[in-house]
Amino acid sequence: MQQAAPLLELSRIGKSFGGIEALRDVDFSLGAGEIHGLIGENGAGKSTLMKIIAGVYHEYRGTMRLAGREVHFRSAHDARVAGIGMVHQELSVVPDLSIAENVFLGVQPTRFGVVDWRGMLRGARAQLASLGIDADPSAPLGGLPIGMQQLVELSRVLFSGARIIILDEPTSALSPPEIERLFAVLRRLREGGRSIVFISHFLDDVLNISDAVTIFRNGRTIVSAPVSAATDKHWVIERMIGAGHEELEESYTGEFHLHSRPDAPVVLETEHLSHGAAFRDVSLSLRAGEVLGIYGFMGCGQLELARTLFGRLRPDHGALRMAGRALRFRNTAQARRAGIALVPESRRSMLFAEEPVYKNTSIAILERLSRLWLRPRAEREIAARHVKSLSIRPPLVDRAVRTFSGGNQQKVGLAKWLTYDPKVLVLSEPTRGMDVGAKEDVVRIVRALRERGIAIVVVSTEPETVLALADRIVVMKKGAIAREFESATISKDRLLAAA
Ligand SMILES: Nc1ncnc2c1ncn2[C@@H]1O[C@H](COP(=O)(O)OP(=O)(O)OP(=O)(O)O)[C@@H](O)[C@H]1O
Ligand SMILES: [Mg+2]
Repeated sequence: MQQAAPLLELSRIGKSFGGIEALRDVDFSLGAGEIHGLIGENGAGKSTLMKIIAGVYHEYRGTMRLAGREVHFRSAHDARVAGIGMVHQELSVVPDLSIAENVFLGVQPTRFGVVDWRGMLRGARAQLASLGIDADPSAPLGGLPIGMQQLVELSRVLFSGARIIILDEPTSALSPPEIERLFAVLRRLREGGRSIVFISHFLDDVLNISDAVTIFRNGRTIVSAPVSAATDKHWVIERMIGAGHEELEESYTGEFHLHSRPDAPVVLETEHLSHGAAFRDVSLSLRAGEVLGIYGFMGCGQLELARTLFGRLRPDHGALRMAGRALRFRNTAQARRAGIALVPESRRSMLFAEEPVYKNTSIAILERLSRLWLRPRAEREIAARHVKSLSIRPPLVDRAVRTFSGGNQQKVGLAKWLTYDPKVLVLSEPTRGMDVGAKEDVVRIVRALRERGIAIVVVSTEPETVLALADRIVVMKKGAIAREFESATISKDRLLAAA
């Protein structure tokens, strides 16, 4: 095979933030018509390198060449003009604007100098249809679930005409059918000669879609290689984290044995619970010291169910009982008083980005305890414990949350809620954005909470997460319970088949 010169070539890139070196002498190259997977632990430097390519950071060391010519972008606009588009890890959509306006944000089509609304609505509808979204483009984006918002953001860059497309964790809120549709679009773009960088912690997905992969560790390039039979998941994990890969892989592949606990007391029960078009006739029981997994594709009603358990949504029909007593929550404060806690899927947006980690992790306690308790020393100590148990990196409780990598912010968002000691803990997408090692930490923490007798509900669109955490699994499909697995041996395939 003839080796053409790469379209984009970065050499010896270095970048530091204050005293922290995020990238050290990184080399990276991307061919024309190539899908290139970028892999590495939380904080490895993936987003930082991509932001350099996309012109977000312009102070760095090293050189960048585009089609053989040295370039140094001064702004994101510069990079866009050069044909580089990026979908950032943190959603940058505008919830108050319509879906169509979000699709064409910054590049609204005009006719004779005025915005061509009809053209925009038509264009948006067609683009979204190719990603499988059937939504009214004139409706406000904020009304869509987070996974759909992620697709809208993707469509903006995918169809912008950029010749280099950078996708920083584009699938974190998507479920298998949407991911498949996205991959079909990516393959079409590749055939059209576009180049794509694909960042994800879902290693199977990266290996499935990419022609080549690059692995980062600690701000350095460990290896770049074409994807082949030899570059399997095992190979990747070994290079990604250096050691302990066998242990990690174990819990994420193959068969899972569910250990239901039919004799433990029932803590929470729902009977024929329904809410609008979101879900209907959901009857569940949750026992002390068990983890109930609720699995389903995006939009199957699982998020609304979680919110209903927590009093954020009110059921139209059906009953909710705790320890046999019927409950009707009018708001979340009542649910909390009854001993129910919810860790929402959008926890990063609830962080105070400019505040240090220790303040962010203690907010949940401050709500519960009197102000007298506000002692910075104690807050810092609690935060330091979380930082350790979730391996938050760098382990600095005084740093502003904004300066942490995406996955590490997710961990801070989770830590904040683990200070609670509820009777029922509802975790929505607890491992989103986390690398394999961090997911393992979450598994360990959830098990410890279960040992304390807390009844836990894990709601997720990630089959691996549900399988690794749950003692019993309920599969939801289009708003209803489709199947329940208990005391069984189950694999990812069987779970997917039921959804
Ligand atoms: N604005 C910033 N200020 C200070 N430090 C930063 C900033 N942005 C990133 N860093 C640091 O640079 C390092 C690399 O972060 P980066 O966001 O590139 O990681 P990542 O590989 O994308 O991780 P993740 O998988 O969690 O998204 C981390 O140690 C992070 O804390
Ligand atoms: Mg990142």
